[in-house]
Amino acid sequence: MSDFTSNFWSIYVAAITVVSIVACLVLLWLSGKAKVMASSDNTTGHVWDGDLREMNNPLPRWWAWLFVITVIFALIYLALYPGLGTYGGKFGWSSTGQHQAEVDKGNADVAPLYAKFMVMKPEDVAKDPQAMAIGERLFMNTCAPCHGSDARGNKGIPNLTDNDWLGGGTPDIIKADIIKGRRAQMPPMAAAVGTADDVKNVANYVLSLSGSPHDSLRASLGKPKFVVCAACHGPDGKGNQTIGSANLTDDIWLHGYGEAAIIAMVNNGKINQMPAQGDKFTPEQIHVLASYVWGLSNKGPAAAK
Ligand code: HEC
Ligand code: HEC
Repeated sequence: MSDFTSNFWSIYVAAITVVSIVACLVLLWLSGKAKVMASSDNTTGHVWDGDLREMNNPLPRWWAWLFVITVIFALIYLALYPGLGTYGGKFGWSSTGQHQAEVDKGNADVAPLYAKFMVMKPEDVAKDPQAMAIGERLFMNTCAPCHGSDARGNKGIPNLTDNDWLGGGTPDIIKADIIKGRRAQMPPMAAAVGTADDVKNVANYVLSLSGSPHDSLRASLGKPKFVVCAACHGPDGKGNQTIGSANLTDDIWLHGYGEAAIIAMVNNGKINQMPAQGDKFTPEQIHVLASYVWGLSNKGPAAAK
């Protein structure tokens, strides 16, 4: 009701409610005044189906009292609960308040659990089955729409299970990614590389870095052109996690595999973005979720190191 900018609608709604209740009582009173027509045969003169005649009896007592009781109930209800315009009722109940109370209770119930995880290292949280069950649920609700329910990603969206990291896969970096999101930018590079042929050559050089099928003559011609790429991808093409440039030597292709895909990257550049997710979680949830994501690519004995 707080959406109203003036009192008018509140009063309007409250007035309709009160008038309706009073009108019910008046109707009851008027109906109760019907007098038995002792002078005649006490029928109204209405006849249906040949011989079904309408009598003029007063309302049954029990019925009238039931009616009165519902009116009394309505008045008590309106005094205690919201119903009269913006009047909130004696109990101060509201659906949002009730929801918030349930949320608070739920949070209070799991607080000791989260407190326990909070003081554990992410590497240890990742070994706790209960924490991982919570982490998986958080992931399914918020991250799976993009990264997939198996966390293996999609074109443009990284696989989180493979230990190939644009930004570095430590729990702290994963936490920062969740809180702040990510933004990676590769500018269109065609002009810096040279002609379309030069771009094709450098693409073949990039393919050669991962041992992918390529034209070796073109690759050797493209190699010197790679200096403009090296600023971000490193002289060896292994990428630079502080700026999130991809490793070009590992045969994992976020934006598509092959000469054509690489040429498109060079010509068009790319802005790849993950929106910040921090405001969807409490710090405790982020701790558990980051541990879960870290655990996806650090399973088994490797996780112990
Ligand atoms: C709207 C889609 C979207 C959602 C939702 C999303 N992500 Fe991402 N995520 C991306 C994209 C796109 C990237 C790649 C960004 C880049 O290129 O640097 C990414 C990157 C990441 C990375 C870095 C991967 C690397 O290789 O360094 C992590 C970790 C990550 N996401 C975790 C999560 C988690 C956990 C959630 C849920 C809280 C989540 N993401 C929700 C789209 C999304
Ligand atoms: C200003 C920094 C910058 C420069 C210069 C740059 N890149 Fe990139 N490149 C990036 C970033 C950042 C990404 C990762 C985009 C993402 O996270 O989705 C990327 C991604 C790529 C990819 C996609 C990798 C994959 O896994 O699909 C290819 C291919 C690529 N770059 C090739 C090149 C080539 C070739 C050059 C030189 C002509 C070059 N880049 C120059 C920053 C750069």
